[in-house]
Amino acid sequence: MISAMPELRIAFLGDVVGSPGRRAVAHAWPKLRDLHGVHALIVNGENARNGSGCSADNYRELRRAGADAVTLGDHVYKDRAIAEVLEDPMHPIARPANLSLSAPGKRITQLDLSDKLSPELRRRPIYVLTVLGRLYMPLLANSPFEAVDRELAAISEKDAMVIVEIHAEATSEKQALAWHCLERWSADAGPKVVAVVGTHTHVQTADARILEHRLAAMTDLGMSGPHRSVIGRDVNATLNAMVKQGPAALDVADGDNRACGAIIRLDLDHRRAIGIELLNIGVPNEIGA
Ligand SMILES: [Fe+2]
Ligand SMILES: [Fe+2]
Repeated sequence: MISAMPELRIAFLGDVVGSPGRRAVAHAWPKLRDLHGVHALIVNGENARNGSGCSADNYRELRRAGADAVTLGDHVYKDRAIAEVLEDPMHPIARPANLSLSAPGKRITQLDLSDKLSPELRRRPIYVLTVLGRLYMPLLANSPFEAVDRELAAISEKDAMVIVEIHAEATSEKQALAWHCLERWSADAGPKVVAVVGTHTHVQTADARILEHRLAAMTDLGMSGPHRSVIGRDVNATLNAMVKQGPAALDVADGDNRACGAIIRLDLDHRRAIGIELLNIGVPNEIGA
């Protein structure tokens, strides 16, 4: 008799921008769960608070919408009150791991799957961490490569699976981290990195692939939020700032609201990725315009 390989499907949605982005997550999760067979959800919430930062309320809203873990990026501390949530071990939310060790907040977090999955599907601990790139980024950070190595080495469960996010501008840095993780963290003897996905540019890339039959990689998940925009901001305000170089409040746009990201398919027996599929889910106008 052939028994089915236990497969865990995790969706990861890129930068959630403002209230349209939060609504896009709430719209997407039931579809991911019921139509795509997704078991768990990770979201990058660095722009959830009106386009910049993530408030404690935004974090809770994303959790209620279905997120099992939330990551942040270069806007990590724009809402200072998030530090308390970041420090609380009960909340699955992580700040970039390659800031100072003194910076507030967890550098890695485990997905909270206790209520969602059967014991069979949650027998491996699943972690997520994010690191900032260093090329063309406004927030200075330490080496993302060394930070990943440090955090992986500190995981005590040898059967853990880790999803690494690189929040960065440069595609080269993102691809390099994927190859680094494949070389350094795909051995059977310890925790394994099973996916390296990028965020921050707000534009989804078409390069999703499985490296060496083991590790899912994608340069950028794209944005969850209004796409009738310039990377989430109001078109007219952005043109006023860029074309006329006039003063402009870069408000969050609305229109063409979508949840973008990927579904990562994991083989739990061998702790490897077996698929990565793009997600680009439109939100009907009456819900998310
Ligand atoms: Fe960012
Ligand atoms: Fe962002």
